[in-house]
Amino acid sequence: MKKLIIINGPNLNLLGKREPNVYGSLSFTDFFDAVQKRYPNLAIEHFQSNIEGELITKLQECGFTYDGIILNAAAYTHTSVGIGDAVKAIETPVVEVHISNTFGREEFRHQSFVSPNAKGVILGFGLQGYELAIESFM
Ligand code: DQA
Repeated sequence: MKKLIIINGPNLNLLGKREPNVYGSLSFTDFFDAVQKRYPNLAIEHFQSNIEGELITKLQECGFTYDGIILNAAAYTHTSVGIGDAVKAIETPVVEVHISNTFGREEFRHQSFVSPNAKGVILGFGLQGYELAIESFM
C-alpha cells in the first residue's frame, strides 16, 4: 500500500473558520475523513503545524521512506529557505498545493521556496487540490 502524507503549515488548522471566502467553509478534519474513505487503498496521513522547524522535522522524517508528500507550507512557502532546503534534501517526491490561486493575490505570494524542488504544483482548486495531488501519486 502506498504511503502518503499531507503536511499543512501555519493557520491551516483554522480551515473552515479562516477567511471562508478564500479558503472555503469545510474544516480540514472533515475533508480529511472523506479523503481517507475515498482512497481506501492508500495509507494517507495528515500533519499540521504552525511552527516552521516542526514542518522541517516532519519533512525529514517522512522524506526517505514515504511514497509521496503533499505540502501546503502556507505562509512559509513565501519566506522559508529552511523548508525549501528540506524539500531539496529529501528523496520522496513533494507535490506543492495551495488552496487559493496565489498568483491572483498579493505579489509576496508569487514567490515560493518550495516550487523549484517540487515534483509539481497545484493551486487555485480549493481543497480539491489535495485530491488532485493524491491522484498524481496513484
Ligand atoms: C495558502 C496560500 C498562502 O499564501 C497563505 O499564506 C496560506 C494558504 C493556500 O493554500 O492558498 O496560508 O498556502
